[in-house]
Amino acid sequence: MSERNPGGLAARPGRALTGAATAPGDKSISHRALLFGALAQGETIVSGLLEGDDVLRTAAAMRALGASVERDLSEAGPLWRIVGARWKSPDRALWFGNSGTGCRLVLGAAAGQGVAAGFDGDASLRKRPMRRVTEPLGEMGAKITTKEGRLPLVLENASLRGISYRLPVASAQVKSAVLLAGLGAKGTTMVIEPERSRDHTERMLGAFGARIDIRPDGAGRRIAIEGGQALRAVAVDVPGDPSSAAFIAAAAAITPGSDVTIAHVLVNPLRAGFFETLREMGAEIELLKPRPAGGEPIADIRVRHSALKGVAVPASRAPSMIDEYPILSVVAAFAKGDTYMPGIEELRVKESDRLAAIEAGLAANGVETESGPDWLRVFGKNGDVAGGGFVRTHLDHRIAMSFLVMGLASGRASTIDDAGMIATSFPAFMQTMRALGADIG
Ligand code: S3P
Repeated sequence: MSERNPGGLAARPGRALTGAATAPGDKSISHRALLFGALAQGETIVSGLLEGDDVLRTAAAMRALGASVERDLSEAGPLWRIVGARWKSPDRALWFGNSGTGCRLVLGAAAGQGVAAGFDGDASLRKRPMRRVTEPLGEMGAKITTKEGRLPLVLENASLRGISYRLPVASAQVKSAVLLAGLGAKGTTMVIEPERSRDHTERMLGAFGARIDIRPDGAGRRIAIEGGQALRAVAVDVPGDPSSAAFIAAAAAITPGSDVTIAHVLVNPLRAGFFETLREMGAEIELLKPRPAGGEPIADIRVRHSALKGVAVPASRAPSMIDEYPILSVVAAFAKGDTYMPGIEELRVKESDRLAAIEAGLAANGVETESGPDWLRVFGKNGDVAGGGFVRTHLDHRIAMSFLVMGLASGRASTIDDAGMIATSFPAFMQTMRALGADIG
């Protein structure tokens, strides 16, 4: 793929972005809705599910493990109906594509249900660390063989016992995998998280009728669950994904004249770090009609273009915006002064080494950075980003969308090598951005 004929996609500077948009269903909640439905007694009906590749892999895995998963059309949009069943060992290895969340959460749940299964995924997922889940699951009694701590892996059937586990990394995936395993283990499983991470698993366990004990523990929490509890099906209304809304909001914040409102977005404080940071940078953001929906706080978010300044992002905020650093780095490139982002070593093990991919993408578009193993500094160009860069996305949807957004407000177009991965989390990204006035194609 050459720079002249990328076969990827380019975003060109042009008009202001205006109007109303919706973000796709939240990816974290969508995975969990399918998984909880497949474990529960009765029919779980899910509206607003993200129909992106990652989540569809989890749906297929739930079918392979024995649940009935069907998609119906209603006047208000698609409805997903899941009827749980006793999980069975699938005939073929489960395939998780690009999705770390699907793979790690299903591994925890499957270990708890005592099934045997193979787990595999694409080239990006095969590079990601799995020991962070196989180690605590192994302590619980699970028998898992990996390829040097990575996929493909094989889970054998075994019965688990509860453990008390202190998370070595702030990871909702690891927390969730251990709690889901604990649901099927003998005795009590306790997870201690030194820093708080997204709590959708805990909220959904409660909504599906499980007893779960949550107590503060320093800056974090300790969460205990008794094994052997049955889940009861409920209706789940999936709100808009703040991690996807972040791309729309960022585009509006950096493109002169923009005024965009994104409807029905999840504003759970454990997911809201990006919007907090954007506001500190001087962005004009309003949360309109804050309300509860499906056990989570939601709101409409209005963002208007304004002059932005660089900030130091507290390291303690990282878990609440861990997926938003690529797009924050793009916003930082348009700010006046530098933006410092410490405490982000986890970016090295996401869908790509995001720290490296961000720096390469910014450099290609004329923006300087500095970095260490766990920090990044972006030197803002005060609205005057050269652009014109060709960006490699390394099978990473958030790198792809971030650098398309960059092209909308740069001097020259920004081109990415591959737009295919955007479908993992935001299948309608292009249509959504074009409807607001973006020149992408
Ligand atoms: C997720 C947790 C985060 C996040 C991922 C979704 C989840 O990963 O990056 O996109 O749904 O639990 P970690 O738990 O590995 O930080």
